[in-house]
Amino acid sequence: MTEFKSKIKTIEWVDTYSRMVDQTLLPEEFKYVNITGGKQMYDAIKTMIVRGAPAIGVAGAHGVVLYAQELAKENLSRDEFIKQLNEKADFIASSRPTAVNLMWAVAKQKEVINNSSSGIAGIVEELKQKAIQLENEDIEINKKIGDYGAEVVPEGATILTHCNAGALATVGYGTALGVVRSAFAKDPTIQVFADETRPRQQGARITTLELTMDGIPTTLITDGMCSYFMKKGMIDMVVVGADRIAANGDTANKIGTYTVAIAAKYHNVPFYVAAPLSTIDTSIKTGDEIVIEERSHEEVTHINGKIICAPQVNVINPGFDVTPHELITGIITEKGILRPDYKKSIAEVFNQDLSYRCKHY
Ligand code: MRU
Repeated sequence: MTEFKSKIKTIEWVDTYSRMVDQTLLPEEFKYVNITGGKQMYDAIKTMIVRGAPAIGVAGAHGVVLYAQELAKENLSRDEFIKQLNEKADFIASSRPTAVNLMWAVAKQKEVINNSSSGIAGIVEELKQKAIQLENEDIEINKKIGDYGAEVVPEGATILTHCNAGALATVGYGTALGVVRSAFAKDPTIQVFADETRPRQQGARITTLELTMDGIPTTLITDGMCSYFMKKGMIDMVVVGADRIAANGDTANKIGTYTVAIAAKYHNVPFYVAAPLSTIDTSIKTGDEIVIEERSHEEVTHINGKIICAPQVNVINPGFDVTPHELITGIITEKGILRPDYKKSIAEVFNQDLSYRCKHY
């Protein structure tokens, strides 16, 4: 397994609360906040204090523990505790609609709640243990993704990435940036081009920060520049993360990813998605079924609190887009790299590992 220098732990359960990096403050301030209540966790996910599909999955699992701790103080019967906790779990899962890791992790906690034979205190403890297990597994999974992905990175490659699918989008190490980290450990001549990623600038604010912390050569470009550099032959491959992958391989990721994928296809640049199996939603056949989050217009009309357009202009702000499976060269998972035909390769990997079969709602 490869080591990495900036051992950022984005989110961590500490005794009775969740501790996380406040990502709304990056890159100016690297500050941790303690989330001590269930509703506070719902707000932290919604306002993107914590963000990135695997990280919000773990945040959702922590949120269920926080609500369980609160309800345990209310003198409820065991049945009433379980009923109310299931409702709170559904509420936490509704904080953001696109990244399926959130629903997946909350569903894992609901399995604990509904299958436990313990009393209330025992259920709270079991939920805590499950949350810590998901947290630890996330880093191990990302290192496996990184090591599989590194095998397809050409020597001395320039890798383009969009948004942030790094240590700060997961518990640690990252998915797309996990591939970069593992490749860099083997070949320090590789480098990264990071798309700025409007409107929230996760590429500029977060990806450039965590890669330069690790000493990985990184060049920031704006979103419209990718085809220019591909045409010049300056990009050897693209690696991005994912928020939800349908059973046919269609992949939802940060808005702008689809544009990068089309440009990559046109210029014959390999386009890889790196994601854990928990991002694959086998309950949906195609990307058309993925709910795309609509976010506040202010994210588009303002930068750092300053208006950048005519105040009366119409605005639309979808947070994600869906890249059709035919534009994807491979999906790098902890079980290896899935290749087209994705309907077949995804079905095969899920048949091998039934523990990932988790009912979403
Ligand atoms: O809106 P965000 O910042 O949560 O979106 C993040 C992304 O789109 C990431 O690429 C995706 O969640 C994968 S993170 C490993």
